[in-house]
Amino acid sequence: MAPKPIKGINPFRGQDILSVKQFDRENLRYLFGLAEEMRIIVERVGHSNLLQGKVMASLFYEPSTRTSSSFIAAMSRLGGAVIPINEVVYSSVTKGESLPDTVRTLESYADVIVLRHPEVGSAAVAAHYCEKPIINAGDGVGEHPTQALLDLFTIEEDHNRVDGLSVAMVGDLKYGRTVHSLTRLLSLYNVKFYFVSPEILRMPPELIEEVKQKGLEYEELEDVSQVIDKADVLYVTRVQKERFTDLAQYDAVKDYYVITPEIMKRAKQTMTVMHPLPRVGEISYAVDADPRASYFRQMKNGMYVRMALLTAVLGRA
Ligand code: NCD
Repeated sequence: MAPKPIKGINPFRGQDILSVKQFDRENLRYLFGLAEEMRIIVERVGHSNLLQGKVMASLFYEPSTRTSSSFIAAMSRLGGAVIPINEVVYSSVTKGESLPDTVRTLESYADVIVLRHPEVGSAAVAAHYCEKPIINAGDGVGEHPTQALLDLFTIEEDHNRVDGLSVAMVGDLKYGRTVHSLTRLLSLYNVKFYFVSPEILRMPPELIEEVKQKGLEYEELEDVSQVIDKADVLYVTRVQKERFTDLAQYDAVKDYYVITPEIMKRAKQTMTVMHPLPRVGEISYAVDADPRASYFRQMKNGMYVRMALLTAVLGRA
């Protein structure tokens, strides 16, 4: 089932957000403009009543800190309410309730459902059974569209442009849904990609094919030191332990790369280091004080972008 492209004045009203394939440069401009307004609201007064009377169900079948809490904070700061169902252990899912029945239940109470689930395509399945908008907050190794939105928003904020940048994606490019979504979203721009990973964690062939189709330049490499002086953005990811069936394979690659102040000496002064977080050793804590470390800005921006998306999807923009 192909997700619907998003067009119109408020192109997001009533829409499911399942994949970054739904976005184009025009509707991104609209959304990011709204996110800037959200930043101003939060910085000046902290809250607004734009979503007063609206209810968001937050249904997470996998662990989350940033995604779930930033969605809840976004809704709260806009005056809306939240039904939080985290890790589903205390819900009827443990009694064997199916995803379709669970979302049909929640849509009886809520206006929008934010869903994280371990299976690729689960958000699309949920959307099929649900009249209310579904926002994909991560479907297994598939996509994580709202993370890619906040990543792109942060890249644009840090560099004042996206066209012309060289972006190095480092780490688990096979199982990392954030790099899948971000690669697709950045492919709307004229960027050069460096895909840096151990052999067994390379970017999936269909994503490489999509990049090729767009006519964009890319290189696949195994060593971050080969790109550290060329990249404008270094997007580092965690090896996704939970996706490995053979833990010996995980152990073999888990400490493959660590970004340290030493490595950062060779990077451009304008390069930014990003990470969707959580980190488990890929970026040393000593890098945090470097102004080029952008991962805390990313986190903050996540709330503004999700405030914008909820306002738009719920038709109050
Ligand atoms: C990411 C995820 O869940 O895919 N986390 C997040 O949403 N910020 C990245 C990860 O878990 O490694």
